[in-house]
Amino acid sequence: MILDRTTFAPGTSTDLPAIRSVHKRAFGRNVEPDLVQKLIEAEETTLDLYASIDGTIVGHCVLSELKGPPKSMALAPLAVDPVWRDFQIGTELVRQLLARARSAGWKSVFVLGDPVYYGRFGFKSELADCVDCAFQGSSFQALELVKDALSNYPGNLQYPAAFERTGAG
Ligand SMILES: CC(C)(COP(=O)(O)OP(=O)(O)OC[C@H]1O[C@@H](n2cnc3c(N)ncnc32)[C@H](O)[C@@H]1OP(=O)(O)O)[C@@H](O)C(=O)NCCC(=O)NCCS
Repeated sequence: MILDRTTFAPGTSTDLPAIRSVHKRAFGRNVEPDLVQKLIEAEETTLDLYASIDGTIVGHCVLSELKGPPKSMALAPLAVDPVWRDFQIGTELVRQLLARARSAGWKSVFVLGDPVYYGRFGFKSELADCVDCAFQGSSFQALELVKDALSNYPGNLQYPAAFERTGAG
């Protein structure tokens, strides 16, 4: 099974070229590679995880600190090399990254993406409705890592500046 051959680890500065490259292969443009680099280099806290097979990075995902609900993060971007799709690598990347965030004390995560894909992790659009955010809409979803983390949070939510003008929430 492909997942048995896949290892998962946080990226380091020496991994950055390979991480940029997997986002370029996945999205076919430079917006996401540039976004990842800006997020990693920005002052906001980030957590990231890559997937590698036989020493090659084939997937990568980033969580970055948001301004708004206490201890909340944005999940983006998520990329899996087109050659290695549909082997559950994306699902496992997100699952493990969310577990790391929960262990590190983060309380909620927001994502802009396909509700069918992100529904598998428990993301819900209704949970994100409480915040005032530039990405608000049916594809904008949230997940509570801690029960009721988002209850009673009718307020503003701001993505890191790196997302400005990318449209890549
Ligand atoms: C989305 C993506 C990360 C999935 O990676 P993956 O390793 O192939 O995903 P998994 O094997 O874990 O899951 C496959 C499932 O994702 C679904 N899927 C694939 N691409 C998708 C997409 N762009 N949107 C929604 N669902 C998608 C497949 O239909 C499949 O569904 P199933 O499990 O019900 O059969 C990968 O297709 C990718 O990098 N796409 C381009 C970049 C992108 O769109 N990133 C997400 C931005 S929100």
